[in-house]
Amino acid sequence: MIATTEEDIKTLRAAGKILAGVLRDVEVLAKEGTTTAELDLVAEHATRTRGAVPSFLNYQPDGAAYPYPASLCISINDEVVHGIPNEKRMLRNGDIVSIDAGLSYQGYFVDAARTFIVGDSTDTSLGGERSLVVRGAGDLKAHQLINATREALEAAINAARVGSHVGNIGAEIVRGARNHGFGVVEDLGGHAVGRAVHEKPFIANDGKEGEGAEILDGMVLAIEPMLAEGKGAIILDEDEWTYRMKDKKRAAHFEDTVLVTKNGVEILTV
Ligand code: MF3
Ligand code: CO
Repeated sequence: MIATTEEDIKTLRAAGKILAGVLRDVEVLAKEGTTTAELDLVAEHATRTRGAVPSFLNYQPDGAAYPYPASLCISINDEVVHGIPNEKRMLRNGDIVSIDAGLSYQGYFVDAARTFIVGDSTDTSLGGERSLVVRGAGDLKAHQLINATREALEAAINAARVGSHVGNIGAEIVRGARNHGFGVVEDLGGHAVGRAVHEKPFIANDGKEGEGAEILDGMVLAIEPMLAEGKGAIILDEDEWTYRMKDKKRAAHFEDTVLVTKNGVEILTV
């Protein structure tokens, strides 16, 4: 959508804050032995008690075999995105877990995802940005992959400017991946958002500067880099939703919904 009124902006900010809170609630409970179905229940409850509605649940875009059956997408290790929560799937220490959530609040849609390693704990005593991972359950490569993807998101967000093109967002993601020796997941990418789960334009993660749709004043965009430990090729699982890496190596995924205006870019989902 193009946000034009104060009401649009105010409600999008509220929606984004709710979603960030839902993701925090889920992440706290994502420990070894927790099932992905349990996390899904927590997310649904956390969303509804804040007056919002899970937007992935029953969502069926063109081409999907059946409606999406959960509130969260939980994608582990070689799964990239759209992993379906399951009561038999338990988290294990060292797993790379991407949790993607979406909601609508008073008619406004936002979308965000975080990736972390099960079994890590974080020392937040230094505060926010300076939080430290103090006990790493994951291997070095897993940490590097996650950090590179988080940095790629930050760079991609900073490339979102009124008058430039969505290709510039993808170009930053490609640069970030290449700098760290990782691949960019092919075929998938970000999208506009705000009044529906997915809106046009599509934001290719392997974009090129100056290509793709022009970024307009007030655009609400979901920017979502996905980086791969190996090559970028993906396959669709038998469940017809889960995307996994073809070479079975691991992937990471971060996503924020942002508002781009002439005054700059504002991250809504923090
Ligand atoms: N954040 C996801 C995306 O942009 C939305 C998934 S919708 C679902 O692709 F139905 F697949 F869950
Ligand atoms: Co998205």
